[in-house]
Amino acid sequence: MLQLLDGKATALQIKEEIANEVRSLTAQGHRAPHLAAVIVGTDGASMTYVANKEKASHEVGFTSSVYRMSETTTEKQLLETIEFLNNDPDIDGFIVQLPLPKHIDEQRVINAISPDKDVDGFTPVNIGRMVLGEECFTPATPMGICTLLRRYGIETAGKHCVVLGRSNIVGTPVANLLSRKGFDCTVTMCHSKTQNLKALTLQADILVVAIGKAEFVTADMVKEGAVLVDVGIHRVEDATKKNGYRVIGDVKHGEVDAKCSWVTPVPGGVGPLTIVSLLQNTMQAYRKRL
Ligand code: GUN
Repeated sequence: MLQLLDGKATALQIKEEIANEVRSLTAQGHRAPHLAAVIVGTDGASMTYVANKEKASHEVGFTSSVYRMSETTTEKQLLETIEFLNNDPDIDGFIVQLPLPKHIDEQRVINAISPDKDVDGFTPVNIGRMVLGEECFTPATPMGICTLLRRYGIETAGKHCVVLGRSNIVGTPVANLLSRKGFDCTVTMCHSKTQNLKALTLQADILVVAIGKAEFVTADMVKEGAVLVDVGIHRVEDATKKNGYRVIGDVKHGEVDAKCSWVTPVPGGVGPLTIVSLLQNTMQAYRKRL
């Protein structure tokens, strides 16, 4: 029988846990944790992400600041802002919202973030620590997926996990985390050059889809009883909705879900957990600096 990996409910529960911890620490006279975000330009999806991060920060009692920079910001100006945030003792962690405008070298910008404040877990130092199994800031979306699997008690040891997508933000880190001790999956990573994709996805006990293509995964690609994690977020026009659009994932849920044992819905699955992971990482940074 199909059951939901309810990201919205899980996120609410974790936010309450964080809010309680923050309340107790500030009652003892400590300052509140402070998460900052840098956004360059006015990309719609990025502005939504940053607004959601700000809202979630306030919900748990964090201080939140947003550095809004124009589309024409130079790389040098952005690097100077990062240097300022690295050195500001009031800020526990910050993120630079991606993607950045084309004239800015994204990796150079990420490399400039202090690993101790890199709550997105995107710097080479944090990724290195993660791969070595050392204490680190784990990238938010993979961490959210791991949290959902754990909190719902999904059996992972020895299971075949097939990951669709090899991005630095999702596919690569989630494949690493799920293959490690504790999760103990056997992981296959698939990407745009993979041959016989369907033959592989049909073997998946756990299928993680982070391919960035709307409704790419169809029922014929999924094994009966699989656990399905859909990382995709796509807006499609929908005149019946108040805001004129609805959000769909990388999976054709209408036909796929009935075959699965567990599914993350879109919206309300992985998305809410991504933001919560960022809050958890900020707590981790804050505790270190207390
Ligand atoms: N763009 C899409 N997802 C993310 C994320 O998790 N962090 C940042 N900084 N940018 C993103």
